Amino acid sequence: MKSVSDLGDLRGRRVLIRCDLNVPLDDAGTITDDGRIRASLPTLNELRAAGARVVVLAHLGRPKGQVNPKYSLKPAAARLSELLGAQVRLAADVVGPSATETVESLADGDVAMLENVRFEPGEESKDDAVRGELADRYAALGDAFISDGFGVVHRKQASVYDLPMRLPSAAGHLVMTEVEVLKKLTQNPARPYTVVLGGAKVSDKLAVIANLMNTADTLVIGGGMVFTFLAAQGYEVGKSLLEADQIDTVKGYLDQAAAIGKQILLPTDIVVAPEFKADAPATVVPADAIPADQLGLDIGPDSAKAFAAEIVKSKTVFWNGPMGVAEWEQFAAGTRAVAQALTEVDGLSVVGGGDSAAAVRALGFPEDAFGHISTGGGASLEYLEGKTLPGLEVLEDKDA
Ligand code: 3PG
Repeated sequence: MKSVSDLGDLRGRRVLIRCDLNVPLDDAGTITDDGRIRASLPTLNELRAAGARVVVLAHLGRPKGQVNPKYSLKPAAARLSELLGAQVRLAADVVGPSATETVESLADGDVAMLENVRFEPGEESKDDAVRGELADRYAALGDAFISDGFGVVHRKQASVYDLPMRLPSAAGHLVMTEVEVLKKLTQNPARPYTVVLGGAKVSDKLAVIANLMNTADTLVIGGGMVFTFLAAQGYEVGKSLLEADQIDTVKGYLDQAAAIGKQILLPTDIVVAPEFKADAPATVVPADAIPADQLGLDIGPDSAKAFAAEIVKSKTVFWNGPMGVAEWEQFAAGTRAVAQALTEVDGLSVVGGGDSAAAVRALGFPEDAFGHISTGGGASLEYLEGKTLPGLEVLEDKDA
């Protein structure tokens, strides 16, 4: 993979850079976690210092090919301006007259941003020719391309996959760093290697569980998907989140793990409440005795202790997905305990993904307490699954 320096002298050249600025916003449109924007700064600063005319391509949310002001990159452009200490002009369109005019107005070292690339139907099209047409229009705006949106490299989309085929291209610092760390997890990780998976949907994680069964020593499971595991063991889960159609697959994993001597660590106690509400009255119950009128919203204190003990004795840990509803204080203890344990690992600890990364920052953990905080949830999981990621593959194949 080529790096920025392989692109030669960038002074005065128009450099398109794909960033992942898909940050969470509250109802008022205020950014609640700017981690992905800050993670994009090193490459942007390097390009500015080199005198490039920088044009940022990014997406926000899933506007599905429609212009929708709710998904405008305005908040991201404003935050990036603050962080760079320089105005980032946001074009009013993606590849229209405003984009052309905005790019033409750039001086050496300036930064501009195009509107949300997903306002263009071609961005996410499954049709290669349709994506290609849009990529041609992007390419007309630049002289070189940098891929730095790690969180989106698993998407075969015009600004991620088709554009680098059309311009001299390289990977930015963020993509380089993320890939370096993920390589350490997949090629000979220091052992014991523990993977902690949480989050709501077991179906999203099935492929990675299947793959990790071979590579990790222990899988620790928490979050909403735990109830499908408990149901697979024959327990009642009350009103908890349950993916009934996945129970048989999960049963298969539990049997397979037992057969090959892999440990799948599940919670033994659960924090439950009668309804999904921040201030609902919470109690702790054994994992095999969840009352019919309650739902599980966090792992219990015994489980948190057991999970932390397993994590702390590991030499490599990858964690994706909160253990409970971490944004509500009553149900944040499990996630906090896991995060705390990761900070105590004598080895490599990796927090994978948008949600888990935002959770550790919201809980007040300093970023440098972890070995690495990945900006890509889906991307890092697909990497660990052993899948080919289109946005990386295209850079491997390409000469700068
Ligand atoms: C993410 O939030 O994981 C990335 O920005 C990718 O977004 P997507 O899942 O909508 O493609």
